[in-house]
Amino acid sequence: MPKATPAASHVLDRVLVMEMVRVTEAAAIAASQLVGRGDEKAADAAAVEAMRKAFDELEIDGTVVIGEGERDEAPMLYIGEKVGGAPGRGPKIDIALDPLEGTTITAKAGPNALAVLAAAEQGCLLNAPDVYMEKLAIGPGYPEDVVSLDKTPTENVRALAAAKGVEPNELIVCVLDRPRHADLIAELRELGCGIQLIPDGDVAGVIAVTDPDTTIDMYMGSGGAPEGVLAAAALRCVGGQFNGRLLFRNEDERSRARKWGIEDFDRIYKLGDLAKGDCIFAATGVTDGSLLNGVKRLKGGRMTTESVVMRASSGTVRWVRGEHRGG
Ligand code: FBP
Repeated sequence: MPKATPAASHVLDRVLVMEMVRVTEAAAIAASQLVGRGDEKAADAAAVEAMRKAFDELEIDGTVVIGEGERDEAPMLYIGEKVGGAPGRGPKIDIALDPLEGTTITAKAGPNALAVLAAAEQGCLLNAPDVYMEKLAIGPGYPEDVVSLDKTPTENVRALAAAKGVEPNELIVCVLDRPRHADLIAELRELGCGIQLIPDGDVAGVIAVTDPDTTIDMYMGSGGAPEGVLAAAALRCVGGQFNGRLLFRNEDERSRARKWGIEDFDRIYKLGDLAKGDCIFAATGVTDGSLLNGVKRLKGGRMTTESVVMRASSGTVRWVRGEHRGG
């Protein structure tokens, strides 16, 4: 299925796509000092501070649209915070970020912790409230809408298996290992699917469907809505399909969503609804994972990082290996 090519954005050209990697590298290096130290908060705080500082080096007039929380909840990188070294004169960029996606993973030295961000022209990223989102993702090469959140998990597995030309029990589905997914997991087991249960980190989980090396065919289940927007930005660049539906547990969550202009609470968001136009996705591994290797500390204080930066308009995916002198 050919993917629609979004118009290239001169605004994003000026941001210097590659420069975004410096920002995720800085966050990943800072968080890596706390891998396996059992302290989620300290790891997150280190990543946030480093990312905040790295943004200041960029000639942009950036606004955080997905960040560490609302202004009263987060001291830095809160929603609405201005970032970048060129306020009022640089290109106006909206940024979705997660300086440490996988705080628990980092604390326990598990796989797939990332420093991650997406950048787009003003108004192009969904200002998702911090609620859960039901997610469904498949890789590129399938007919449009072959799977949908309107269908049951069983219908989606059968439809994808038919489109792939295999039996349902040959599909591998990635699901966050949570009690709330017990029914979904039981339904998938009934169909005989392989289930890759991940402890955390559904940005990497969703992106894994686009990489044949992971053998994951589909991502299913609920996780953070902000992480859904970040993963959608990546899929906009590399292809694949995504459906997301916000899940509200109470009136407070609904009113938070209204504040961001969300009125239709049952809407199914597709890729272009979450990340419109041209966009950039960048990530650096904190710990080893399916997308990237983590930060490695070498003799003499040197470090290596692995990052990826992608752009929707060109579909270019760049893998960046960095070597850094210790600070
Ligand atoms: P944090 O980095 O904020 O800990 O998020 C990790 C994560 O696993 C996300 O990848 C996922 O979207 C979300 O938590 C799932 O939330 P919950 O742990 O409440 O199921």
